[in-house]
Order: sequence, then structure tokens, then C-alpha cells
Amino acid sequence: MNELAGKHIVLGLTGGIACYKAAELCRALIKADATVQVVMTAAAEQFITAVTLQALSNRPVYDSQWDSREPNNMPHINLSREADAILIAPCSADFMAKLLHGRADDLLSLMCLARPLEKVPLLIAPAMNREMWSHPATQRNLIQLQADGATVFGVGHGDQACGETGDGRMLEAQELLEEVVAFFQPKILLGQHVLITAGPTYEAIDPVRGITNRSSGKMGFALARAAREAGAEVTLVAGPVSLAEPRGVRRFDVRSALEMAQAVEGAVPAATVFIATAAVADWRPALAADKKMKKDGSGRVPELSFVENPDILAGVAKSPRARSRQLYCVGFAAESHDLLTNAQEKLLRKDVPLLVANIGPETFGRDDNALLLVDAHGTQDLGRDSKINLARKLIAEIASRLKAGEPKNEN
Ligand code: C5P
Repeated sequence: MNELAGKHIVLGLTGGIACYKAAELCRALIKADATVQVVMTAAAEQFITAVTLQALSNRPVYDSQWDSREPNNMPHINLSREADAILIAPCSADFMAKLLHGRADDLLSLMCLARPLEKVPLLIAPAMNREMWSHPATQRNLIQLQADGATVFGVGHGDQACGETGDGRMLEAQELLEEVVAFFQPKILLGQHVLITAGPTYEAIDPVRGITNRSSGKMGFALARAAREAGAEVTLVAGPVSLAEPRGVRRFDVRSALEMAQAVEGAVPAATVFIATAAVADWRPALAADKKMKKDGSGRVPELSFVENPDILAGVAKSPRARSRQLYCVGFAAESHDLLTNAQEKLLRKDVPLLVANIGPETFGRDDNALLLVDAHGTQDLGRDSKINLARKLIAEIASRLKAGEPKNEN
């Protein structure tokens, strides 16, 4: 994926055992098509060598403000002017304190102070022992750094190198990559609260058997990520899927359609956008047996009878907030044939302003998809692409409809 194409990142390493993760991060940034200039403090070089980072970034590492390789002998100016962001990962407690005071007695802190504030954002990935992290001085510094305009990513929780357990671990390389990519996305849904259903539902027949479908949840999870990248608050109601939720998203796990309906009902009052991507089972067994149904050898098969599940999307679309467009509803249609006809019929039946159609067998479980937007005015083909790119396109479309106050297809 070329999510950071054209971006030049100064990756600053300060002293901490999490430097070993910075090597992986450097690689991840490069794989995302960024160019990376590594700058290390003397303390960082106690943990990992410049050779490793030079090999991974394919550029000489800088570690001194007296570096004579620069013709004007001003690496702090030259390196900071060409950056799209300075990312400090790991950022030690000491380095946070230093940044806060505007101290500049090594190349990295000097660059942070000398960078043009408006053009070169400062991104900080803290890494330290849990006591250092929770110390009032560090927490105070964190708040002040944010007030000074820095973006401070969260920390992980778990085992620490010192043998203690708690908050303060540096985020993993993939998590930081996700944060950096999100940072550069336009914040077109700022102030919105997006509620998304995703994945299949599971309707129990007995304690060990049930009815489900092939939805993987990938499209809904990609939308949750894209909405969060766009600055929205995101609530994700997920059926049984084996996917990690995107960073910064509130997730509720449910199993059945009834559980999904209940979770959605609880989240709807705060939402301003509802995107129903879940493949909700249309019917559930009328009565789930409380013990496993047994074969008795007679050849008789159990007779299952079904009842219809509530239509979550149609229910939400009828609510007064949806009717008055305080809640913008988007439905999905997974079809096997006659995509447009079926989608148009569903648009009317669900009474939503926008319906997104795709071919079920060509999307379930895959990382790519093809989407067709259908509204009262016409259609718009978003084409075939990765699910995350399609999710970004759909979020941009929803944002522009919210801004314009109304839908717009004219094909
Ligand atoms: O009726 P159908 O399942 O084809 O409609 C698909 C759309 O309706 C999707 O957006 C899906 O999430 C939503 N839906 C729902 N509750 C149901 C059935 C479908 O929210 N019981």
C-alpha cells in the first residue's frame, strides 16, 4: 500500500528499549512509500545502532548538530525544512520534558525547536516505564506538549522490559503506521459521530450450532477506520468476526441480530451518521434448543421453523432524527445478480438517502471490492479498489453530502 507516498518523515529515536521497535517502524513507513530520514540521540545509540537504521532507511543517519556533511553545517535547519512531519518514536520521558522547555542541546531537540511550526507537525510516540508514564510531571508535560501543537499518540499496556506491567509501552509499529496515515487524512468528518454495523450475525439453533453467513466484516471495519481517520468519533457494532478493530474506535461485539439491534438502539441517540454494512440474518430459528439436538438413529431430521429478525437499518431510518436528517443513514446491499435493480428496490424499501451496492460472492472475505452508489437521483460507480481506499472514497462522499445538505447523483 502506498498510503504515505510523497511524504518525507524525519524519524527521531531517543533513548529507550523501544528503539528495537523503531527499526520495524522505519521499515513500515518505507513500505508505505514514505521517505525516511533517521535522526538519533546519543542515548538511542545505546540501544540500537545507526547502521541498522541506515540500512532500513537507505539514508545516512544523523546524530549530531555538528555534522559537517551539510555544506552550511546546519543539519537542524536543512533536515527540518524538507520534512512533512517529525515523528519521535520512541520518545522518552526525558525527551518529552526537554521538548516542553524548548531545550535544544542535541540535533533532534534542536530540529524540533527550529522546525516551522505551521508546516512541520511534531508527532510523539511515548515509551517508558509505567511509573514514569503516570508521574504527574510526565502527564503535565504531555498536556502542555499537546497545547503547544504536538500530536501525542497513546501508549500500549502490558509487560514492560523492566519486568513490571502497566501503561507506557510504545505502540507497535503497525499501530504507529496507522496513526501516521490517519494524521495525514483530511479531517472532513470532524464533529460527526459515525455508527457502523459490520460482519455477519449468528443465529443459534442449539448451544453448538447456528446459522451465519460469509461476511468477514472487512468492509465495515475499513469504514470505521476511514471515518476515524476523517476525525469522526466512531462506534462499531461487530458481529462474530476475527478482525482487530481500527485504532481509536469504540467497539461492541454482538452475536445475533437481536443483540445487534439492541446495541445499535443504545448507540443511535449519539450518532449523526449510521452506516449499516452488517450482513444481518433475515431469519432466526423460532426457538433455539437449550441442549444440543441429537441424532437418534431413526433417520428423522429436526424441523426448524423461523421468525423474521428486525430490520435494524429500516428501523433506524424511520426514527425522527433520521427523518429530520440529524442522522444520515447509509445502507449496503450485497447481491448475487441484478445489482442495480435490487439496490434501487432496497433504497426505497429501507427509505435511506444512500445505498451502496456490491456483489456478495465477489466481496466476502476479500481485501478488495467494487462499489456502486445508488440514490434517488442516479448512480455513481466507485470502481474496484482495496476496501480501505473504497472506504475513504465513501466517507468523502458522505462528508460532501452532509456538507451540501443533500444527495447529488445525476447519472
Ligand atoms: O434486506 P437486506 O438484508 O438485503 O438489506 C441490506 C441492508 O440492510 C444492509 O445495510 C444491512 O446492514 C441492513 N439490514 C439490517 N437489518 C436486517 C437486515 C438488513 O440492518 N435485519
